[in-house]
Amino acid sequence: MKIPRHVAIIMDGNGRWAERRGYPRVFGHIRGSTRVKPLVREADRLGIRALTLYAFSTENWLRPEGELSVLWRLLKKYFVKEFQELQKKNIRMRVIGEIERLSPEIRSVIDPIQERLSGNTGLQLNLAISYGSRRDLSRAAKLFAQDCVDGKRRPEDMSEQLMREYLWTAELAELSDVDLVIRTSGEVRVSNFLLWQSAYAEFIFSELCWPDFKPEHLRACIEEYSGRDRRFGQTASQTSQAKEFQ
Ligand code: IPE
Ligand code: IPE
Ligand code: MG
Repeated sequence: MKIPRHVAIIMDGNGRWAERRGYPRVFGHIRGSTRVKPLVREADRLGIRALTLYAFSTENWLRPEGELSVLWRLLKKYFVKEFQELQKKNIRMRVIGEIERLSPEIRSVIDPIQERLSGNTGLQLNLAISYGSRRDLSRAAKLFAQDCVDGKRRPEDMSEQLMREYLWTAELAELSDVDLVIRTSGEVRVSNFLLWQSAYAEFIFSELCWPDFKPEHLRACIEEYSGRDRRFGQTASQTSQAKEFQ
């Protein structure tokens, strides 16, 4: 199997999963949150090098207060419960997104854990929280403009390579480019996720809602990815020749 280096997952469909069973939406978030651990384990086992999980978007702030408070509680629980296992597995976990918008209470949980896992060299696990790709790109433009004003950069320095260094995914360096994006729940849209980073990604849209997505489904997605022909703008014969020389 051809293993993608960077997999990004839009974990969607918690609310519908619950509603279809006659439960309140938050039940879906509770069940969905239990799916993260086995998935991270499987990604690690398969040798995926970076895994980015879309947990909360900049638009999700518009959700009802009651739903938001459950999401924050679950998130906090995930960090506290999983820290030991992530550390043991040498997983480097970081949050990407506008963390300054999170409450001091959540920050006081996330910040020290992120710091303690920062020296790990195994799977790079990114949790996209209060993340929006337009915010990512407009923030990058702001940071670059400021560096120009401060005399650290000149406008002509900007390049596709340099742009990468201003994005929230900068620390992933050459792993920033996403190879495979998976979205659950049957929706066929990107919802403001990693627009720059997924420029040449393969996309798989699963009909399963996130609480039903298990490690075996991740493996099935990787198998489908393995069969895809990635051409990066070239012709099929050019890319198959390049493969022969590898
Ligand atoms: C994904 O599930 C979780 C978050 C966006 C936080 P949803 O809550 O979007 O579930 P649906 O899409 O309404 O079913
Ligand atoms: C995308 O799901 C964000 C996450 C999964 C965290 P949404 O449910 O917010 O996306 P839309 O609103 O259906 O596009
Ligand atoms: Mg949704």
